[in-house]
Amino acid sequence: MRHVPVLTREVLEILQPGRGGLFIDATAGNGGHSRAILENSPADLRLIAIDRNPATLGVAAEHLEPFQNRVRLLQGDFRDLAALLPGQTPGTVEAILYDLGLSSFLLDQPDLGLSFQRDDPLDMRFDPGAGFPAYQLLAETPEPELADLFYQLGEIRESRRLAARIKSARPPVQTTGQLAAIARSVIRRRGRIDPATRVFQALRIAVNDELDALRETLPQAEKLLAPGGRLAVISYHSLEDRIVKNFLRESRELERLTRKPIQPSEAERRENPASRSAKLRGARKLPEAVFLTGK
Ligand SMILES: C[S@@+](CC[C@H](N)C(=O)[O-])C[C@H]1O[C@@H](n2cnc3c(N)ncnc32)[C@H](O)[C@@H]1O
Repeated sequence: MRHVPVLTREVLEILQPGRGGLFIDATAGNGGHSRAILENSPADLRLIAIDRNPATLGVAAEHLEPFQNRVRLLQGDFRDLAALLPGQTPGTVEAILYDLGLSSFLLDQPDLGLSFQRDDPLDMRFDPGAGFPAYQLLAETPEPELADLFYQLGEIRESRRLAARIKSARPPVQTTGQLAAIARSVIRRRGRIDPATRVFQALRIAVNDELDALRETLPQAEKLLAPGGRLAVISYHSLEDRIVKNFLRESRELERLTRKPIQPSEAERRENPASRSAKLRGARKLPEAVFLTGK
């Protein structure tokens, strides 16, 4: 199933594709936001769409087919944003979008091991060719560090017991089903959300080193933007949102367009429950004269 893009109207309001020029979708996914940008743009808008996951780019290619002359798809990590754009001099990009985290398309891919609704190998890498699978991380990380990981990235109060159960499991945890069963037996359910949700999210963030990738990409995006260029970031986790919020607050080259993050309407949450934790922040690169004089 193709992923449903989140906060699309609000993203377009921030990025203003009507201005044309070079746009970057740093998390192309199935190309939902990319397509909305292209549909609302003049013919001179060109788009570079990047994703770590090769399979998702295959779907994006189909979805963006009507605009194929204006789109370039790149498989890569936005952590290396500047290096991914050969010959791209700083200050030439009109807009950059990040829609972080996971898509429903990736969740549905059995070989990625991201869903606790099935029993698949526990891999979790967005790019299956890079880094180490989640089951290896569980096997090689000492118990205290594993507990810290679940406490910090998942705010899991029972993190010590969880780590102990994972480390003592026989056979060792290798599948999504095994991990989900341990999570459900150790963590008390609060409300309707499955206790495995935060365990899977925390482990996925660690496996893909998502917070460091975000910290490393934002300064590159800031440099790539042209004066007046726009940045939009959708996050789904409080630690991600904090990184974005602090970066925008401290930047001397970007002006915030959103003081408080934009969240999905009741209607969007109802129609697309996966949007429920989304927070969108936007910024505009200041005209050069302003920051050259030290503002
Ligand atoms: C929420 S989805 C994006 C959905 C997309 N906006 C759409 O409308 O289809 C997030 C995407 O970001 C990708 N991703 C996550 N971390 C990445 C990184 N460091 N570099 C590039 N892509 C990344 C994931 O593979 C996933 O496809």
